[in-house]
Amino acid sequence: MKLWGGRFTKPTNELVDEYTSSIGFDQKLAQQDVKGSLAHVDMLAKCKIITDEDATVISKGLNIVSEKIQNKEAELSVDHEDIHMNIEKLLIEEVGAVGGKLHTGRSRNDQVALDMRLFLRESIVMLTELLVGVKEALVEQAEKHIDTLLPGYTHLQRAQPVRFAHHLLAYVFMFQRDVDRLMDSYKRVNQLPLGAGALAGTTFPIDRDYVANRLHFDGVCENSLDAVSDRDFVVEFLSNSSLISMHLSRLCEELVQWSSSEFNFIELDDAFSTGSSMMPQKKNPDVAELIRGKTGRIYGNLMSMLTTLKGLPLAYNKDMQEDKEGMFDTVDTLKGALSLFAPMISSMQVNKENMYKAVQQDFSNATDLADYLVQRDIPFREAHSIVGQIVLYCIKQNKFLLQLTLDEFQQFSDSINEDIYESLKPESVVNARNVKGATSEDRVREQLDYAYFYIDSNKSWIQNHG
Ligand code: ARG
Repeated sequence: MKLWGGRFTKPTNELVDEYTSSIGFDQKLAQQDVKGSLAHVDMLAKCKIITDEDATVISKGLNIVSEKIQNKEAELSVDHEDIHMNIEKLLIEEVGAVGGKLHTGRSRNDQVALDMRLFLRESIVMLTELLVGVKEALVEQAEKHIDTLLPGYTHLQRAQPVRFAHHLLAYVFMFQRDVDRLMDSYKRVNQLPLGAGALAGTTFPIDRDYVANRLHFDGVCENSLDAVSDRDFVVEFLSNSSLISMHLSRLCEELVQWSSSEFNFIELDDAFSTGSSMMPQKKNPDVAELIRGKTGRIYGNLMSMLTTLKGLPLAYNKDMQEDKEGMFDTVDTLKGALSLFAPMISSMQVNKENMYKAVQQDFSNATDLADYLVQRDIPFREAHSIVGQIVLYCIKQNKFLLQLTLDEFQQFSDSINEDIYESLKPESVVNARNVKGATSEDRVREQLDYAYFYIDSNKSWIQNHG
């Protein structure tokens, strides 16, 4: 007999049970479900809706059921559709009919929204911590590579030299925004939907604030219809996760390129690379590739949730049961990626010399030659054209700028003097960029200080929310 079987004269078709049940995946919410029920039953007694004795029996029973589920001693069945009804059924088996009082003043609609929020707020803290770990790994490498220069690229063409620390710090700031977004979203997740009932509230004199306090929520959802219909917090999480994943993927792409023989800028540690079953010489950046690849499913989960919610009328609709698998998958996928990413970054070897060679063998100091002419009162547009001709000359002569004689330079402009050689050295080129956020040593150190400051404040947030 179904918990809701009263008004039915026939059993459901077994394919319907299979199709509509969510127990296959929402059993992941068992601990959250019990936690919410314990707070609910406690409140029911406090508000004299049930007796203290009944509440004690129900709470004890819930703890036993919870333990049995954890130890895989309880049978969870599609016959009882989802984790909420399975737990209620197990509770009644454990403590008898009094277990049936647990669901007083509550609906699965507000219950499932509660479980989702409890699960997600834990996941957000866990992922934030992992993300801060990634930032720390990047910042440590950056600290070691302030004096490591490499070409900076635009259009994947060598553009201007930068410090490797500067390049890594760019990602630190992306991940910083990701951390900010996760922390900010936590506030919206951490509102109590329980008490909304099926949609309109409940006739019992419940105390929502009491439950909110007991479960450490920041407040209660203000509107009961919204409370049971809202999955914005899931969409927001999936969207934030998509950005994190996109950032990871972009850096992974760089790691893949940099570790190729063509670049040879870094070597990933053996522990974070894999071999080929056929080609004995191969060492593949599989981890980086797979993190890049799994971005697809994380975006997919976002699109799937957005699409499910589109056009749903108020309030709860069964469509919303589709909110779970994508969310679980995104949490697991990101957890896997972030856990591997930090040690992969920490253990990578940086081929400083090869990066430097690349900086010397390019025209990434051409802007500096133009700026040099501008400082000698030649309008930038004219300077740009002169340097363009010099570069063309160099290409024909198979030389780089620093290999030209002063005579050769002066064929193009008599404003060029001996001091040009100092100005065009990679070290001078990076240090000449000394505006806030730029690649000079001082400015990169300033960025590092910022990054450390944020890491510290993130850690105290994690501590307060753990
Ligand atoms: N298993 C359902 C879900 O995950 C729980 C809520 C069901 N409510 C209902 N009225 N059918 O969405």
